[in-house]
Amino acid sequence: MSDDRLHILDCDTGVDDAMAIGLLLAEAPQTFVGATAVFGNVDVRRAALNTRSLLELAGRADIPVHLGAASSLDGAFWGSGHRVHGENGVGGVQLPNPTGTAGDGEPAPSYLVRTVRENPGRVVIIAVGPLTNLAIALSMDPGIAELVAEIVIMGGAVRHPGNATPAAEANVWHDPEAADRVLRSGARVRLVPLDATMQQRMTGDEQTELAGSSSRFAQAVAQASEHYLDFYTNVFPGRQCALHDPLVAALALDSALVTSEVTTSIEVQLAPGPARGQTVADLRGLYKGPVHREGHTTSVVLETEAGFSRRLVEALTCLP
Ligand code: RIB
Ligand code: CA
Repeated sequence: MSDDRLHILDCDTGVDDAMAIGLLLAEAPQTFVGATAVFGNVDVRRAALNTRSLLELAGRADIPVHLGAASSLDGAFWGSGHRVHGENGVGGVQLPNPTGTAGDGEPAPSYLVRTVRENPGRVVIIAVGPLTNLAIALSMDPGIAELVAEIVIMGGAVRHPGNATPAAEANVWHDPEAADRVLRSGARVRLVPLDATMQQRMTGDEQTELAGSSSRFAQAVAQASEHYLDFYTNVFPGRQCALHDPLVAALALDSALVTSEVTTSIEVQLAPGPARGQTVADLRGLYKGPVHREGHTTSVVLETEAGFSRRLVEALTCLP
């Protein structure tokens, strides 16, 4: 992979987004050039504020945070993941007030278009919230689809059940039309669905390790994870939580962890009803029948090597 790549994180900063920010700061400190905020786990202003506070906590006030979409393309959803991420998105933890404003002047979609145009073939967009900012950017300038190096998305559920609904994963469910637009754009897309992210987990012991470290960033993530771990006691046995967004950030930096990946078509279900937001992949192989779509451009990561939480803990604890 070319090492002149630049990374932009498009996030709805809740607890696992905070972990993704930490992973990028630790492992890609030079190439993590900007963040864009979107509604999702919280409203967009809170997402930008959380992102800014976390960057400043790590001493990286130089990384800009651009304010993005406040609602889904259809205007139906403005953000709320309090049940999973706590009232303020970071488990109720009071992060230090940022010195800068929550959002830098240029709106997120314009920033994405401009940065991709100014750096053809170099920009990797890591999308870990609803895909609305990207969908708007692609509508403003469809030509960026072939100029972006890659779009790596935390989203969808292929063989795994949904988490927002029985069929739909939260980031896709919160704006299915945006996800559909991005997946049809022709851009090089790598999708990392729940199939992969639900298998990588942080334990209560690892949370304690973060809390006991000398890193103020790791300590804040440990505190924020308390609510998140509580939520997951209804999902997994014991005390452990899924590492959705940090896994996707890591996969955007290198593919070492990937053990199963397919290139396939992905269709987002848009019709109202129980399947809205479902991501349907064609995994039929030899059984493929007459109905299929040509020109598959989506890589879907189905499995990754166990043990990612160790890499995450090491990354977070080396931050200030
Ligand atoms: O479904 C998991 C995703 O939804 C993660 O990005 C999490 O932060 C929430 O936004
Ligand atoms: Ca997220």
